[in-house]
Amino acid sequence: MKGIILAGGAGTRLYPITKVYSKQLTIIYDKPLIYYPLSILMLGGIKEILIISNKETIPLYKKLFSDGSQIGLSITYQVQDAPNGIAESFLVGEEFIGNDSVTLILGDNIFYGKLNFLYNVLDDHKEGANIFAYQVKDPERYGIVEFDEEGNAISIEEKPKNPKSPFAVPGLYVYDNKVIEISKNLKPSARGELEITDVNKVYMNSGKLKVQQIGRGVAWLDTGTPEALLSASNFFGVIDDRQGLKVACIEEIAYKKNFITKAQLQSLVLEMPNSYYKDYMKRVLAE
Ligand code: DAU
Repeated sequence: MKGIILAGGAGTRLYPITKVYSKQLTIIYDKPLIYYPLSILMLGGIKEILIISNKETIPLYKKLFSDGSQIGLSITYQVQDAPNGIAESFLVGEEFIGNDSVTLILGDNIFYGKLNFLYNVLDDHKEGANIFAYQVKDPERYGIVEFDEEGNAISIEEKPKNPKSPFAVPGLYVYDNKVIEISKNLKPSARGELEITDVNKVYMNSGKLKVQQIGRGVAWLDTGTPEALLSASNFFGVIDDRQGLKVACIEEIAYKKNFITKAQLQSLVLEMPNSYYKDYMKRVLAE
């Protein structure tokens, strides 16, 4: 299973934050936003990761993560020339995906809580597509899935004016290798994008789409507005303050998942400048 983080786009809705700066580098509490989706892929056991972004931002991600080997990953980078749609990830990433399956996470999506919903899917995935559904109060802003009485997905619509359900599709998608071919055959939507919702519809129409509802114990946080960014920061600040535990600390995850040894973590921590982050990592080492 390969992993892709789509972390480009114009981010215009957050202007002027995004005038010179990528949305996925904005700060959520104590670290850049992109750490959160990266940590989800890592927790899912995915070690080969492609980060897709625009050409201005890729050097910044490289500065953050380098080739990933320091945290036991292989991270590569590819440019998306323009924000032509989420499904373009599979065209830009065709070579990277090769003959494998792929999990795509949007670089601005944050999940927190028990991630068994994802672990189960990744353990069992052989073919087809697995996506998720999460109840929201503003469904017109998302891809929306409608279920029949047996819980089968019967329709998916992108940002519907009259949503048929409150269940949004989060930016976390698990596909077999057919996703490349499916994406190649897509036509741009009215807004000129290769829509991920259209990919999901192709899988649904061939009976190969599984949609699992994510329960109330998991937080899927929005990062689309300044208020949402502040709320997400406050959310992780409260957890840090209460538990003394950091969320999306990629070095800690790499260590606890045995992607790196204690000695490797020790040398990483030695190189960190004096910071709260370093103090935290020292505590992790001393545990
Ligand atoms: O967050 C979940 C939602 O993400 C889904 O429910 C929708 O079905 C899906 O279309 C998407 O909706 P958004 O309106 O949030 O997509 P947006 O255009 O904001 O893009 C999501 C992220 O992906 C954003 O951080 C920018 C990045 N992106 C987007 C496009 C279209 C790219 O890097 N390249 C692109 O071409």
